[in-house]
Amino acid sequence: TRNGVEFAVADLALAEFGRKEIRLAEHEMPGLMALRREYADVYPLRGARVSGSLHMTVQTAVLIETLVALGAEVRWASCNIFSTQDHAAAAVVVGPHGTPEEPRGVPVFAWKGESLAEYWWCTERMLTWDGSDGAGPNMILDDGGDATMLVHKGTEYERAGVVPAADDNDPDEWKVFLQLLRDSLAADTGKWTKIGEGIRGVTEETTTGVLRLYQLAAAGELLFPAINVNDSVTKSKFDNKYGIRHSLIDGINRGTDVLIGGKVAVVCGYGDVGKGAAESLRGQGARVVVTEIDPICGLQAAMDGFPVKTLESVLPEADIVITTTGNKDVVMAEHMARMKHQTIVGNIGHFDNELDMAGLARYPGIRRENIKPQVDEWTFPDGHSIIVLSEGRLLNLGNATGHPSFVMSNSFSNQVIAQVELFTKHEEYDREVYRLPKKLDEKVAKIHLQALGGELTKLTKEQAEYIDVDVEGPYKSDHYRY
Ligand code: NAI
Repeated sequence: TRNGVEFAVADLALAEFGRKEIRLAEHEMPGLMALRREYADVYPLRGARVSGSLHMTVQTAVLIETLVALGAEVRWASCNIFSTQDHAAAAVVVGPHGTPEEPRGVPVFAWKGESLAEYWWCTERMLTWDGSDGAGPNMILDDGGDATMLVHKGTEYERAGVVPAADDNDPDEWKVFLQLLRDSLAADTGKWTKIGEGIRGVTEETTTGVLRLYQLAAAGELLFPAINVNDSVTKSKFDNKYGIRHSLIDGINRGTDVLIGGKVAVVCGYGDVGKGAAESLRGQGARVVVTEIDPICGLQAAMDGFPVKTLESVLPEADIVITTTGNKDVVMAEHMARMKHQTIVGNIGHFDNELDMAGLARYPGIRRENIKPQVDEWTFPDGHSIIVLSEGRLLNLGNATGHPSFVMSNSFSNQVIAQVELFTKHEEYDREVYRLPKKLDEKVAKIHLQALGGELTKLTKEQAEYIDVDVEGPYKSDHYRY
């Protein structure tokens, strides 16, 4: 704590650089800046205590400061051990009007290269408001669902009075997580139950986190209402696709500087992220091959000109293998053992379990050599090696800086709108998962289209009646797929 601001970041001296990049990013985030203007005198988030778990980047800094501009108090952690940009974290702590000696910003608990134990410590600090009135957070802003899971599992184990023992085969992440809950249960404060009871709602950023929310709701276990931000059209059809188109090759380039043109690149999964990934690699002249389990997405890949094959059949030719599935066990150690020398292997889905990193580490006779941060060469006993980016964690944020500002302005505008909605109208929502109305989606799109100089055609009243929409929108039915 310095000047009353709690924080755990790499170095507050980086704040000036962070502030410069935040200033440039603000211009590239017209949606967030429009929301600041729209709500300038209203402060709809006054009284909101937002605990946020989302990659602590420059773009996220603009999101955080927008929440603050709308009246919220905020605490923040990153949702991945490698994704923090330390200068952004420092600038948020210092704030626009503070100095490193006298910070006046927002408590942030995040640095690039956390251990798993540090990661969960940061998440816990972010959810722990030591206010004199004992009030905890009343909103969660989540990316991938870890903050929501901590509150849910904590509540579940507090009610049961016991934390289950970890299995030897459980991933390290889970073991560390259970240990944290065991410690908090031993302190016997009923902490997580209290936090869960105080939360008005959560807004979730990504496909993987949304899946977890629907599972909780289906089991009747969701403790508070949720808004699925990911499935706003202006989120998943833009950030997941065009954001990845930008940041995938950025990560590969910064990690390896290997020429992508002419290489055979395999993209596992052809959902929104996979579509952006395949286009990104094709744009560099790679020969892209797609793997899919879903015939519809497989057919889309084929129509877009990408051969659809199984990983097994394409493996002997692959130079680059990227997972984008949000599923587990997609590229196994046995696959990696059969790859060509110096094949680049990376994941851009939310969790690292798409790649069998545990199996790779256990592979008989395997040797790991760190080349530089977030780049490892793993050499098999037969002498061939593969290059693994970001230890299998999302490489666009681990090896590069994630998605650029303009596309994140779309995603984060939806986040802010969803926070305002749940904070101000929580009584109108059940413990279910909701999406934002299409009208708001169209509003977000309009702001960004205008910023790009786009001109929309105006419907005549007769035309609007003919296609059965309102002149002012929404222009599509809910089942329209874009
Ligand atoms: P999606 O559901 O649209 O796409 C996933 C695709 O993978 C689906 O088409 C599915 O059929 C396919 N798939 C599933 N199992 C497979 C397997 N074993 N082999 C081949 N294909 C398989 O999901 P979306 O939105 O594309 O997200 C994917 C992941 O990326 C999620 O974990 C999401 O949270 C994450 N994400 C990461 C971002 C980043 O910046 N790194 C940004 C946005 C999302």
